[in-house]
Amino acid sequence: MNKYSLLTMGDLTPIDIVDLINDAKCFSDSYKDWKLPTNDSLVVANLFFEPSTRTHFSFQCAEMELGCKIANFNAETSSVVKGESLYDTVKTFEAIGYKALVIRHWKDQYYKELENIEIPILNAGDGKGNHPTQGLLDLMTMYEEFGTFENLKVLIAGDILHSRVAGSNKEALEKLGAEVKFASPDIWAREGYERVDLDEGIKWADVVMMLRIQKERGAELQGMTDEEYLEKYGLSKRRYEMMKEKAIILHPAPVNRGIEIDDSLVESSKSRIFKQMRNGMLIRKAVLKRAFGFEPFKKVENMKIS
Ligand code: CP
Repeated sequence: MNKYSLLTMGDLTPIDIVDLINDAKCFSDSYKDWKLPTNDSLVVANLFFEPSTRTHFSFQCAEMELGCKIANFNAETSSVVKGESLYDTVKTFEAIGYKALVIRHWKDQYYKELENIEIPILNAGDGKGNHPTQGLLDLMTMYEEFGTFENLKVLIAGDILHSRVAGSNKEALEKLGAEVKFASPDIWAREGYERVDLDEGIKWADVVMMLRIQKERGAELQGMTDEEYLEKYGLSKRRYEMMKEKAIILHPAPVNRGIEIDDSLVESSKSRIFKQMRNGMLIRKAVLKRAFGFEPFKKVENMKIS
């Protein structure tokens, strides 16, 4: 596996995380027009075996802004339908001459089958496992708001059982000194994830991250109506009033408006949901820059992002 592949948050040290956030911030201002300095064709392929809007098209936007050439793979019109394996598909892209691959796949830890691949692989989500670039963009959004992860109180609520976002955030936030708690219906409890009462968690948190109910992975409302779920387990208007004055709302999206979060709160003053999407493009530029072996723009000192 290439040393610049990004498969899980475990591939990154705290300094790597801060470097990537720092680079992403640079891409929003002083390095806005920076491109990969190469005459070679840096051809990147985006291989999405599961639907995606944010991850796919923010990677594509990041690739275009960096000056890469891009191929978008469609499994349904590829030789996957003739039974070609993931390994052979990926090996084919490497053999053709692609220089990096962005991959989303429904299988947990699909990348374990790809250890022989030498070009960088950027994991855009594996089943219920990991979503490292989502974790990074979430961290960037929190850092922009609070300027530190030390003792930051983060509540992650909803369908934690099927969520790769919950896993990636837990791993990174705990490494960076934040406190992370979870709230969910009992059916979605997850081993090793400390659960608290939702109302108590909402009052405690600096960051309230709501998660989507992942119906495509078998999650169900267990006979509740949308309104009943929102009242019992979602971020309702009543719970919004319980949040700390400076607390913020995150959600990886897509959002089931009116189920895990009240429709009117998606664009409320505490919501940073659309900020997350912008940060996602910037973080993916930083991750691609690292994948091509470029050093961070600025040296990190004292874990502070400049
Ligand atoms: N948050 C996220 O991964 O969204 P997409 O599924 O649209 O990429």
